[in-house]
Amino acid sequence: MNSFRLTSQGNGILIKVVDLVKNFSNGQGEIPVLRKVNLQIHRGEMVAITGPSGSGKSTLLYILGLLLPPTRGDYWLGGENVLNLDRSAQAAFRRRRVGFVFQSCDLLENSNVYENLEFPLIYAGVNPRERPARIIAAIERVNLSHRLYHRANHLSGGERQRVAVARALVNHPDVILADEPTGQLDRRHGHLIMDHFQEISAEGDTSVVLVTHDPEMASRCTRIYPLRDGILYAPEK
Ligand SMILES: Nc1ncnc2c1ncn2[C@@H]1O[C@H](COP(=O)(O)OP(=O)(O)OP(=O)(O)O)[C@@H](O)[C@H]1O
Ligand SMILES: [Mg+2]
Repeated sequence: MNSFRLTSQGNGILIKVVDLVKNFSNGQGEIPVLRKVNLQIHRGEMVAITGPSGSGKSTLLYILGLLLPPTRGDYWLGGENVLNLDRSAQAAFRRRRVGFVFQSCDLLENSNVYENLEFPLIYAGVNPRERPARIIAAIERVNLSHRLYHRANHLSGGERQRVAVARALVNHPDVILADEPTGQLDRRHGHLIMDHFQEISAEGDTSVVLVTHDPEMASRCTRIYPLRDGILYAPEK
């Protein structure tokens, strides 16, 4: 464990966003998509962001994942003022500190599960000798050890999404950002994914930020933030 982690655990706050603004330009002018969003997430919390289509949920998640720069505002992740980092430092930070799970799990279809999980480790520069143990631990977390050498395109929808969760976990991220991760699953498999997220966050090191339309899934989170027309309201829970 490095000093960075110790510092951020000390105050308990993993994510701090202050007056975050995102405008998109449509050719004729700037369209506000996020309007002065403020948000604090503690380490180990599991929070939901809910809201109608077009309200800015994915945009917020992409900014939190350093995939998209905001127009204005401040963002600290684990005590680091990440918007002050240059692009390559942000990319390195993202690879090591952030795990993503999307609605469609975008696995490497012709590769097996092991190779899918090794990919982010290679990107993050993890020593080849360390990789097998990390991969096995991540796949055990989602109870899919028996599928380790199956090709991704031979897995069921629920299994694929569990591999996506394992892939998000394999680098021991500070935060997992999930955009409608249960959107293509039936209720039972949706809850299974939520079980994994709940277990991961309950261990206390990793936070989960989940975008969902589904009130049942949102209700399993510690807090629910409504986002409407780019305004993030106080949590309902
Ligand atoms: N690259 C872009 N350029 C211009 N406008 C964009 C861009 N990306 C998103 N938008 C606009 O920003 C608004 C918010 O989009 P966003 O994808 O964040 O919504 P969302 O809440 O995730 O919706 P959904 O529930 O449908 O996924 C929308 O009006 C969208 O058209
Ligand atoms: Mg979206």
